[in-house]
Amino acid sequence: MADLVRFEVVDGIGVATLSNPPVNALSAALRAALFGAVKRAEADAAVRALVIAAEGRTFIAGADISEFGKPPASPTLADLVAALDQASKPVVAAIHAAALGGGLEVAMACTARLLGPKASLGLPEVKLGLLPGSGGTQRAPRLMGAAAALKLMVQGDPLPAKAAVEAGLADGIAEGDLPAAARAHAAALADGATPKPVSARDEGLGSREAFEAEAAKLAARAKDEPQIADCIACVRAAFDMPFKDGVAFERAAFLRLLDDPRSKALRHVFFAEREAAKIAGVPAGTKPREVKRAAVLGSGTMGAGIAMCFANAGTPVRVIETDEAASAKGIERIRGTYEASVKRGSLTAEARDARMALIEGAVGLESAAEADLVVEAIFEDLDLKKQVFATLDRVTKPGTVLASNTSYLDIDAMAAVTTRPGDVLGMHFFSPANVMKLLEIVRAKHTSAEALATAAEIGRKLKKVPVVVGVCFGFVGNRMLAQRSRQAERLLLEGASPAQVDAALMGFGFKMGPFAMTDLAGLDIGWRVRKATGGRAPVADALVEAGRLGQKTQKGFYLYPQGARTGVADPDVDALIEKVASAEGVTRRTIDGDEILDRLVLPMVNEGARILEEGIAARPGDIDVVWLNGYNWPAWRGGPMHYADARGLAEVAARLSQFADQTGDESLRPAPLLARLAAEGKGFGSLKAG
Ligand code: 3HC
Ligand code: NAI
Repeated sequence: MADLVRFEVVDGIGVATLSNPPVNALSAALRAALFGAVKRAEADAAVRALVIAAEGRTFIAGADISEFGKPPASPTLADLVAALDQASKPVVAAIHAAALGGGLEVAMACTARLLGPKASLGLPEVKLGLLPGSGGTQRAPRLMGAAAALKLMVQGDPLPAKAAVEAGLADGIAEGDLPAAARAHAAALADGATPKPVSARDEGLGSREAFEAEAAKLAARAKDEPQIADCIACVRAAFDMPFKDGVAFERAAFLRLLDDPRSKALRHVFFAEREAAKIAGVPAGTKPREVKRAAVLGSGTMGAGIAMCFANAGTPVRVIETDEAASAKGIERIRGTYEASVKRGSLTAEARDARMALIEGAVGLESAAEADLVVEAIFEDLDLKKQVFATLDRVTKPGTVLASNTSYLDIDAMAAVTTRPGDVLGMHFFSPANVMKLLEIVRAKHTSAEALATAAEIGRKLKKVPVVVGVCFGFVGNRMLAQRSRQAERLLLEGASPAQVDAALMGFGFKMGPFAMTDLAGLDIGWRVRKATGGRAPVADALVEAGRLGQKTQKGFYLYPQGARTGVADPDVDALIEKVASAEGVTRRTIDGDEILDRLVLPMVNEGARILEEGIAARPGDIDVVWLNGYNWPAWRGGPMHYADARGLAEVAARLSQFADQTGDESLRPAPLLARLAAEGKGFGSLKAG
């Protein structure tokens, strides 16, 4: 324990310095050590006051999330906070970096809070489906006013040092030696030379009207997110109840949320995203190559967006096209997108100019000669891509990482035409590339650890969430999406309407249904892919053949009268579906919403199981991260694999078998891995250990 908290006495001031890497999370052991330090300071007559300081990249990152769900260990965070609250000697928190969640609650229970210039204070619990559960909802309102405290809690983003002091959450910023300044402050408090700052137990709640006005703005979120409703209720309790009762009220809400499946899902996502960053087979410490200059091939839909990602991150990028006209068009496309952001007010004109200055249009592959990384985003044609990779191999310098943004094609085949297959991989961005956070990094047979580390590092620099996947048709995301699309089509034939299918997924939490999405993107895109790959979607094909390409032709699966953005059901589509179903020999029936949802979601889970079996994804959590960041899967459902685990794999397998029997579609039969785990009463989560 002693090494978690170092205790020393300097000039009559006790100093407890926390060191629990990586982020000083308040694990049971750290709580016990800090509790011990507080008691020691209390008991030692030679100690006049206590300073709590910390080492490392955060002050305290909050409760240890990995301990949630385990039996509580004494002293609890509530015990620790109470000990600080009741200490007879002044306690000063010396906060050099982020104090988050329970970390800020510990600090708020101290007599004073002194910040370093790099400190930040926040209550991010809502992002985990929780609320501050150790007095934070009662203390923050008393320090900074109820309205401001509610805002801090529901946004979940930390306040930088200056703003935290201005808000009343901290007492000052020490520019020099923070521990020394904190000791001096503690001594002055002990001597009575400095008056005791306002206590988090005093009444400083501010205007009730202002708080209620803030709460009213949250009505829509409070309906869908229980933690938001509970934050409001707890802050309201600060007005209506004595402090002690408010803390008890908050505790009950915290424990209820801790057990809510939505919070469990969000906590799963927190760890899955961090685990996805650890690439299997790439030893920790593998040094990524430096990417000083990038090149993007093609400035169409994807190339333009990818080039913007580099410029936004401050990396100079050359956008290479086949001729001057295409190049000029691509640069104009980029300028237009930036211009729209300036008009919306989300980008300054100076930032636009700075970014445009990093983007250079060029013609011919030789222009990639100086690049450290090339991302190819040309037409989806394997022969063409192979030609381009062979040329890139010749014209780029040794060590340049060669990446393809292909949606479906074989990266091994591209690597095979080069003399440096170790440097070849996929970097699969999602549309719009400058917005979507997912980056599938495709590991080919010979891709080196260094090339993977380089792609992951640059991905993070571009503010993407990189997930490493293996080579197969469509990789992880699109391969699973294909299952959902297949079932969506099939459901139309069997009796559902496009609106019913869309409503089922929106009811599940997606922002848009698959047919509304197809109308937005244009039906011709999928149609062209099906023509090229021999795929079938009889309803969608019939719509394309009838000239219904989606919003751009004002009709697709829905009607868009006078360019409306939201479609309305069209009886002509119902008639067309009936006709196609009859031609396909399918008898239509009434299908309820539960079956529609399961038919859409469970086959994706089944495909996820195959993806795991084949080693295309290393962990079930990686698949969840793909769906959360690339396809807007609702975060509070934790991703498809977590959803299946939460539902129970036995039920998932039984439903899939039932669908296979009912439709005769053997691809719906539970995959061997799913069937095995279901039989063993396990979930995909049990695979994590190995
Ligand atoms: N508990 C347990 N582990 C944590 C943790 C926490 N609160 N915060 C971070 N970690 C772990 C991560 O899982 C990761 O582990 P790994 O190296 O094994 O993958 C490691 O610490 C480093 O985390 P990051 O990769 O996220 O490091 P960054 O430097 O990028 O970010 C951070 C640091 C800003 C502190 C970020 O980790 C973060 O936002 N953490 C969560 C903060 C939070 O939500 N706190 C509230 C917790 S709930 C609470 O306090 C309840 C109370 O009110 C009762
Ligand atoms: P696009 O048709 O909009 O743009 C392709 C661009 O490449 C054109 O501007 C073309 O002039 C240029 N080009 C063609 N051959 C070239 C060459 N030899 N050298 C330089 N430039 C060349 O295509 P889009 O949609 O941007 O797709 C590009 C790639 O990204 C494809 O592999 C596609 O599968 C993939 N992708 C597409 C997504 C999408 O939603 N559109 C999503 C993710 C990946």
